[in-house]
Amino acid sequence: MTQDEMKKAVAEAAVEFVQGGWVVGVGTGSTANHFIDVLARMKGKIDGAVASSEASAERLRGHGIEVLDLNSTGPLPIYVDGADEATRHLHLTKGGGGALTREKIVAAASDQFVCVIDETKQVDYLGAFPLPVEVIPMARSHVARILAGMGGNPVLREGFRTDNGNVILDVHDLRIMNPVELESEIDHIAGVVSNGLFARRPADVLLVGTPSGVQTITG
Ligand code: A5P
Repeated sequence: MTQDEMKKAVAEAAVEFVQGGWVVGVGTGSTANHFIDVLARMKGKIDGAVASSEASAERLRGHGIEVLDLNSTGPLPIYVDGADEATRHLHLTKGGGGALTREKIVAAASDQFVCVIDETKQVDYLGAFPLPVEVIPMARSHVARILAGMGGNPVLREGFRTDNGNVILDVHDLRIMNPVELESEIDHIAGVVSNGLFARRPADVLLVGTPSGVQTITG
């Protein structure tokens, strides 16, 4: 089974969590795209979606699913999104696609966060995947110096701007033993908008695509 087939399988499993009449929080990336494609089968039953990126909003609209403003929906019953790394504690690294800030907002506003990954994303410790940090452009060098002082190796994502008009520093060489603490520490650097650790608000359910089927891990 290919990685893409495992992503499709978890997307199919995730849609089972969605109920009619709900507004669905939708993430970003190739696995979230599969979820959007499957969700399209329910478009007459759901009340719409809140997207974590312009790219996902466009894909949702392409399927005829109404995209709503989070300010008009109130709390959401569910958020479905992928991740770049996940531990058995349901702590995640996200933001490989650069949508981490809006992803974190929609996850925070949702009652249940269903994270969909293939088995290649499962790790014992976060950090092998470079940690994305969204930064206000004028603070780029300041934030990079502080991250370097914390033992990381921050690299500017060249030629990339987030949907919010900011830049991304991808921080290499971190072995993250305490993701809850590190998430807060990085967020408190002046100029940081958010970082890709999802540990203070981890996933509630992790659906893992494997060659032998979809495994469900709950917190
Ligand atoms: C987007 O910013 C990310 O957080 C994605 O959720 C993450 O990169 C997973 O992407 P794939 O599903 O494409 O692997």
